[in-house]
Amino acid sequence: MTTEDKATEHKATLSFSDGTPSVDFPMMKGTVGPDVIDIRKLYGATGKFTYDTGFLSTASCNSTVTYIDGDAGKLLYRGYPIEQLATHCDFLEVCYLLYYGELPNAPALEEFKDLVMHHTMVHEQMQFAIRGFRRDSHPMAILTGLVGGMAAFYPDSLDINSPEQQDISFVRLVAKMPTMVAMAYKYSIGQPYIYPVNRLGYASNFMHMMFATPCEDYEPNPVLVRAMDRIFTLHADHEQNASTSTVRLCGSSGTSPFSAIAAGVACLWGPAHGGANQACLEMLEQIQADGGMAKVGEFMEKVKDKHSASRLMGFGHRVYKNFDPRAKLMQETCKEVLAALGLENDPIFKLAMALEKIALEDPYFVERKLYPNVDFYSGIVQRALGIPTSMFTCIFALARTIGWVAQWKEMITDSEYRIGRPRQLYTGSVERDVPPRRGRS
Ligand code: ACO
Repeated sequence: MTTEDKATEHKATLSFSDGTPSVDFPMMKGTVGPDVIDIRKLYGATGKFTYDTGFLSTASCNSTVTYIDGDAGKLLYRGYPIEQLATHCDFLEVCYLLYYGELPNAPALEEFKDLVMHHTMVHEQMQFAIRGFRRDSHPMAILTGLVGGMAAFYPDSLDINSPEQQDISFVRLVAKMPTMVAMAYKYSIGQPYIYPVNRLGYASNFMHMMFATPCEDYEPNPVLVRAMDRIFTLHADHEQNASTSTVRLCGSSGTSPFSAIAAGVACLWGPAHGGANQACLEMLEQIQADGGMAKVGEFMEKVKDKHSASRLMGFGHRVYKNFDPRAKLMQETCKEVLAALGLENDPIFKLAMALEKIALEDPYFVERKLYPNVDFYSGIVQRALGIPTSMFTCIFALARTIGWVAQWKEMITDSEYRIGRPRQLYTGSVERDVPPRRGRS
């Protein structure tokens, strides 16, 4: 969409009480969602900036990748509802869709899968790079280093202005991320790295690299592989969240795609972003350790108490003020996985169901529009798959890589693309002279 396509006949008028003449701003329209006020000329016209910490009211870009309607509980990738994609497509199909904009036909999909699965091996020197890290390093710290290090291992795809090199970097990132995540895991538990097996599917190859050893094969269970694949699909993109905005801002300087994605990995590591499913699982385990079902009522009173710092982890979302559509799909997967493993009576799952039931009926949660988010069930699923909590954020990073790459590519090919450079409201000292050292208090 060009700027002309987005223009509407409406305008917004900003008036001032400090004598500055009022100014008109164009209003722009997307395909769906709220209109936006184009304030790009604000500073030139008035010498003033807007103030919007946390970007609560600011659209930082145009995007055609993902659309969220938080009030309706809707998530679309390239226009397709997440429910349909998670049911009818596999993760690599979703990767193709997110990057190229359209779903592949059957031959294109086969060709794409073949391409990705033949780029799964990483440069052999990478295993020596990992050895420089302490064994007790957090896998996310290792992953951040490895992804950034790809710029050193793959210098032939760093030209961001070459469409061929953009595509090569995209394939390398999607193909090698599972290998790097599995290597970070194996290193942290002192086991040898397991090489990828290209004849396996994307998710089953990842599980093979995580769980096989040189002494024992890993037998993929189709229900568990499908669950892993669905976790990837549900986390593939989520519009302009903190890590995606970080990728865009970092990439806007023209740095390599690997450096920009490494910035996204670093941002995702924070507990307010990628770490919530770990926190949710730990909360459930703590309630179980404190007495399980008998303690649910007491715990719910605590999370509602204004004076307590506790929250019901896995509940509430900044954007979704109705249900999180990913949570419903994850709950379905959770039931399938536990049934396949004969764990229907898993006490943690039962506890989660009991908490959810109470919360959905409790006026405190209903009035505040607090519904389960994707993290409420994804921790239980990952635990059942045998993934340790320290790896949860790495799995999220693996899945979100496609979203980051698709948004990076969209940004650098956008005619309106320019380096990101927010302004500030300066509240520090006015200009002053440096006093002599001896005269300072
Ligand atoms: N448990 C108890 N009370 C809650 C919860 C919760 N999980 N979430 C929000 N509230 C309450 C707040 O105390 C506040 O109550 P008040 O109006 O009486 O003061 C009200 O609901 C609004 O809360 P905010 O923090 O303003 O809501 P916001 O939209 O900013 O926060 C957030 C969203 C951070 C996700 C919050 O709901 C939360 O902390 N949830 C738990 C952590 C979590 O699950 N995070 C995962 C998010 S999904 C993801 O990252 C993939």
